[in-house]
Amino acid sequence: MKLLLLCLGLTLLCVHGQEKRDVVTSNFDMAKISGEWYTVLLAADSMEKIEENGSFRMFMEYIQALDNSSLLLKYHKEINGECTELPFVADETEEEGVYDVPYDGYNWVQIAEAVYNEYLISYTLNIDHEKITKIIELDARNPDVSPQPKKRIEEHCQKYGIPTENVVDVSNAETHSVSLWAIRGCLLTVFCSASADPCSQAPGNHGSQSSSAE
Ligand SMILES: *[C@@H]1O[C@H](CO)[C@@H](O)[C@H](O)[C@H]1NC(C)=O
Ligand SMILES: *[C@@H]1O[C@H](CO)[C@@H](O)[C@H](O)[C@H]1NC(C)=O
Repeated sequence: MKLLLLCLGLTLLCVHGQEKRDVVTSNFDMAKISGEWYTVLLAADSMEKIEENGSFRMFMEYIQALDNSSLLLKYHKEINGECTELPFVADETEEEGVYDVPYDGYNWVQIAEAVYNEYLISYTLNIDHEKITKIIELDARNPDVSPQPKKRIEEHCQKYGIPTENVVDVSNAETHSVSLWAIRGCLLTVFCSASADPCSQAPGNHGSQSSSAE
């Protein structure tokens, strides 16, 4: 198994002055939701959709808000062993924050919760012929997301009747932070991530390019 070591970048972490999270649950600002995301957790009431090779076992690259209020969602997914790009255009429905996406049948996608610079939780109803599947996805700006959004996923699962044991971590990212220096309560930290998922090394994604884009 190939292990790739990626250093995501140097970050100055300050222990003091932790900012309060701005959790948004309605009236989403799509411009602030735009940008790069990493899919960290998936949950579904039917595991076949999210297990290996399942139609929803896919990984977000970015969201772009289009001028006509639709969203461009770019994902990638391993199909027949190949890392394949999957772009979707999601058109907003009459309901704010709710989108239509044709894929594996039809999907009704609702943005449920966001902290714009940290994480995004979406709830999808997939209607594939007669079968309806509920799917919850956690995307994060950094695959090494804090435990708090992961706890939120469990609460959303309970709300939508998805067993919490159906939550799978698909980030495949073991991110390690190595602190170099501590300066007046701030830590100069280098994040290194070891990933065994070849798809997570797709060009233009999750690599050194993402850190230089900021
Ligand atoms: C918005 O624009 C995109 C890209 O041009 C297009 O694919 C989509 O269908 C448009 N949405 C609506 C609701 O017209
Ligand atoms: C997923 O698909 C790949 C390639 O087609 C195959 O080698 C692998 O066994 C499949 N895994 C499962 C769990 O079906």
